[in-house]
Amino acid sequence: MSTVTAQAPAKVNLWLSVGPLGADGFHPLATVFQSLTLYDLVRATSTSLGSGITLTVEGADGVPVDRTNLAWSAAALVADELRIAADVSLHVVKRIPVAGGMAGGSADAAATLVACDALWKGQLGRARLMELAATLGSDVPFMLHGGTAIGTGRGDRLTPVLTAGEFHWVLAAADRGLSTPAVYGQLDRLRADHPPVSEFLSDDVMTALRAGDALALGRALGNDLQEPALSLMPSLGQLVAAGVDAGALGAMVSGSGPTCVFLARDRDHALDIAARLSGSGLCRTVACVTGPTAGAHVIDV
Ligand code: C5P
Repeated sequence: MSTVTAQAPAKVNLWLSVGPLGADGFHPLATVFQSLTLYDLVRATSTSLGSGITLTVEGADGVPVDRTNLAWSAAALVADELRIAADVSLHVVKRIPVAGGMAGGSADAAATLVACDALWKGQLGRARLMELAATLGSDVPFMLHGGTAIGTGRGDRLTPVLTAGEFHWVLAAADRGLSTPAVYGQLDRLRADHPPVSEFLSDDVMTALRAGDALALGRALGNDLQEPALSLMPSLGQLVAAGVDAGALGAMVSGSGPTCVFLARDRDHALDIAARLSGSGLCRTVACVTGPTAGAHVIDV
């Protein structure tokens, strides 16, 4: 019996500009992703011929353990590609908030792709794994890629971004999740009278990243999904405001939410903001992380 363990990071969208709803049911995006040092783990263990895929999850309640879980689909996809039977037991250790706007499900799918490829000695290569990732979900390619990258199309077409140094973030998770399609749907309703012409990228974000300038990045952060997320979960407005009061350089909802992210000057500043948010009673858990970090990769064979 052999086992491979892979990890994949959480992500934040430093910039998320959403264009008009397309005929395919998706919105064209101009986004800037950054991977963060908060990881989900996937352990893939080969099982006897004919046993199929089994899935267990640790660290979160209510995550499906059947084929509706993206990790399951990822294992089935790799087996299909290699033309072998998908006999594998997957164990997912969740640390990224579930339905939190940090691409936790996509991280699990990316970690499963690399774990199963290594387990079955598929040697599919990064380029093919990226193509498979895009068929699983819009954020899965970035969870493989990691670092800092511009995402266009559905967010799946990536261009790496050069950044200087590391950025310190505080993450504050809510006690319930938000559904990504529901937040996009709410955005369309809010924009009914003034649909956007197109999505666009922020020069200020790119300049701040190149310079490693946290103060400038804090001012430049932007997320079109923040307003719809706040309208579906108004308490998030208080959480964002509490981060600003605590001295964060930038404060916003991450992706489709409801996790909120706060940019700090350095580690001590992040710890100070985290302590104040923990005491506010406005969030369930708080974590201090840095970005960027590597995408999904095998950590143990
Ligand atoms: O690609 P993914 O499965 O993560 O997308 C989930 C849902 O989020 C889609 O079905 C769609 O409703 C919405 N979405 C979107 N535009 C995108 C990405 C996702 O409308 N670029």
